[in-house]
Amino acid sequence: MNSPKTWHEFDQYTTDKLISYDPVLENVLQTNAEEGLPSIDVSPVKGKMLHMIASLAKAKNILEVGTLGGYSTIWLARALPDDGQLVSLEYSAKHAEVAKRNLKKAKLDDKVEILIGAAIETFPQLPEKGFHDFDFVFIDADKQNNSRYVEEALKLSHPGTCIVVDNVVRNGTVLDSDLEDESVQGIRQMFDYLSDHPKIESTAIQTVGSKGYDGFLLAIVK
Ligand code: SAH
Ligand code: DHB
Ligand code: MG
Repeated sequence: MNSPKTWHEFDQYTTDKLISYDPVLENVLQTNAEEGLPSIDVSPVKGKMLHMIASLAKAKNILEVGTLGGYSTIWLARALPDDGQLVSLEYSAKHAEVAKRNLKKAKLDDKVEILIGAAIETFPQLPEKGFHDFDFVFIDADKQNNSRYVEEALKLSHPGTCIVVDNVVRNGTVLDSDLEDESVQGIRQMFDYLSDHPKIESTAIQTVGSKGYDGFLLAIVK
């Protein structure tokens, strides 16, 4: 029973039981595939989890790092109140263009702004563009910069800001300190950065599912 096949089937089972059929989100995944985007979006159950955490946090201002086709963006933006806003940082102009189309179809284009460029260069421009004081941050881009993204997010946070980082387990490879893999090293640097951090409380949860063995980090700014 304990195999990737079961993980996949259980994700399908819980998706069928707990997540209403959503033509908008289905269409997003189809568009992304047609446009040749990699299918590394969060799974439906994780998308809903992000949505629920953002709701619990009563998030009015959300930051996302790593848009891809906007699948997680839509889950998160749907947790916003009428006067809420989400800004998502994306390196690829092509991904951003597909995401913008998807967000328009989801009728969320008035609440979401996508900023194109390397996120580490976009971060310092956020306050002048009116994006700061985030209540919820989702980090899901190039893993080698994870600790810098958490550090930058902290500057734009307040006590209680919730930060979620995707893919912090990567099939367990993150345990291997000698692995010459920029993503693994970046994730390890993030854990070092967060270890005993005076202003951030964190935990990490391993997950299995349709996207394999991975996990996420949950942090709250003190
Ligand atoms: N959050 C999305 C998946 C994101 S995949 C979802 O769940 O639906 C990771 C994205 O990060 C890709 O679109 C990739 O182009 C983007 N990315 C990679 N390096 C980046 C960088 N330096 N700055 C901003 N985005 C980056
Ligand atoms: C990768 C990135 C992701 O954000 C993800 O959820 C899965 C895989 C990757 O770069 O391999
Ligand atoms: Mg991810």
